[in-house]
Amino acid sequence: MSLLRLENVTKRFGGLVAVDRVSLTINEGERVGIVGPNGSGKTTLFNLINGVYIPDEGRVIFNGQDITRLPPYKRAPLGVGRTFQIPRPFASATVRENVAVGAMFGTMGGQLSVDQCLDMADRYIKLMGLEAHSEKPAGSLTPVEKKLMEIARALAMKPRLLLMDEAMAGMHPKDIDEMVQLIKDVSDKENIAVVAMVEHIMRAVVGLVERVVVLHQGSKLVDSATKEALEDPKVVEVYLGHPPEE
Ligand SMILES: Nc1ncnc2c1ncn2[C@@H]1O[C@H](COP(=O)(O)OP(=O)(O)OP(=O)(O)O)[C@@H](O)[C@H]1O
Ligand SMILES: [Mg+2]
Repeated sequence: MSLLRLENVTKRFGGLVAVDRVSLTINEGERVGIVGPNGSGKTTLFNLINGVYIPDEGRVIFNGQDITRLPPYKRAPLGVGRTFQIPRPFASATVRENVAVGAMFGTMGGQLSVDQCLDMADRYIKLMGLEAHSEKPAGSLTPVEKKLMEIARALAMKPRLLLMDEAMAGMHPKDIDEMVQLIKDVSDKENIAVVAMVEHIMRAVVGLVERVVVLHQGSKLVDSATKEALEDPKVVEVYLGHPPEE
């Protein structure tokens, strides 16, 4: 059974159709990239999946349940985890506390004691290589460290689906390669499906995802295996404007 299914989802802002009858299936443990030029509807599509927006038309099915109208805080316990493009941590709380909040409001929420949430936090802080910063206020982290903390927090939610919003932007290529490997490993090991929105990092798309969905003016232009999608003339034309360098 598919983990996530979008059925003809449409979202309008006034007269503008930001997402136009998009249907999409994500299987358990699968890693899919959402790409497309500026304004093509990527962020809006993401927000329809995580519940920030309710679609004007269409349905969102997660794990067999209709979640079309559920707010984000009711999706998280079902297993919809996400990172934010612009991390908004509790700045004065420590990194450890911030990540523990993920555990508290994730799929294990209510089943874990505070200590267990902190243990969970430690585990993913370590995975992201942030041990040295664990007791620091989150606000003192560099932008890249904040992104790593975001990923740790999302993983501590024990999601079945991890939505990554530009989580690797601003990282050095070497760090991106390392991050891609980390995410792949944890996705395989914990059977977490990943939907990554990547605007400009072709490297991450190619390394991380098996399939690519290309949006263009709110519609799904292409939905195919990564290599095939990147070589598709339609994609080269609307998205890259030129062939991929990597
Ligand atoms: N809250 C909003 N109110 C009005 N229009 C919006 C809103 N959010 C997005 N839009 C419009 O919807 C369209 C799709 O925007 P969206 O942010 O989803 O695109 P995107 O692919 O994420 O773009 P980018 O690459 O610039 O982040 C754009 O034309 C945008 O101006
Ligand atoms: Mg966007």
